[in-house]
Amino acid sequence: MHIQHFFDTATATFTYVVSDPATQKCAIIDSVLDYDMHAGKTSTASADKVIAYVQEAGLSVEWILETHAHADHLTGSHYLRENLGGKIGIGEHIKEVLKFWVPLFNTAHDTSLDGSQFDHLFKDGEIFHIGSLEVNVLHTPGHTPACVTYLLGDVAFVGDTIFMPYVGTARTDFPGGSAETLYRSIQKLLSLPESTRIFTCHDYPPQGQSENYVSTVAEQKATNNMVHEGVSEAQYVAARNAKDEGKSVPRLLLPSIQVNLRAGELGKAENNGVQYIKIPLNRI
Ligand SMILES: [Fe+2]
Repeated sequence: MHIQHFFDTATATFTYVVSDPATQKCAIIDSVLDYDMHAGKTSTASADKVIAYVQEAGLSVEWILETHAHADHLTGSHYLRENLGGKIGIGEHIKEVLKFWVPLFNTAHDTSLDGSQFDHLFKDGEIFHIGSLEVNVLHTPGHTPACVTYLLGDVAFVGDTIFMPYVGTARTDFPGGSAETLYRSIQKLLSLPESTRIFTCHDYPPQGQSENYVSTVAEQKATNNMVHEGVSEAQYVAARNAKDEGKSVPRLLLPSIQVNLRAGELGKAENNGVQYIKIPLNRI
């Protein structure tokens, strides 16, 4: 398997293209649609880099995968599907996320509650293929109720379930998030063979250090600053909740969630032909 990563410095997001050299089929994991919130302007610069890579490498896209509905960047999935084809997949528990947010945004007219805007909703334990590569889907909730990990042999794309050991883990204070649940999901990952490589969705390295995206289960168990081996669930939950207490809302939470729950479509234009991002007031 070949793994190509892309890093969006504006949102610290890693996008991956995983390809099968035997068949030239690939999957794109956790893409980005650039968004300038002050100007209300989207740009496809990041997604276009992925498109150029896929085309130059002669790959055909089978899947456009989301590890979860991101709260810090808009997904490029819809744009990528329009340009490259492929099916957009996300965990089936996205329905719980839709149930919370769609009424708040009042967007039921263009955001289906049944998740049918995604081409496929993965169940825990489901197996699918990228060319000849077998992918196992693990439901790894906690950061959000719908987070999944895509496991291909000794490679795990974990989204925000766990970060590089010096960052620790993702926050669990979003609606439906739970530190207890995240701890259990992380234990599922840490029970994989020690050589399993963990590819994260973000990195926030200390100042002066460049970003990293891959670690191993062994490294995580030895050095993760929040969930290394020996940290109990109770200790982790107390530390996680203390860290999340009073944390500011991510800059792009409201724009991201409403677009990402449409798989990256920008929503139905109003009768003046303009599409809008809606910001509910005093609700978060
Ligand atoms: Fe996230």
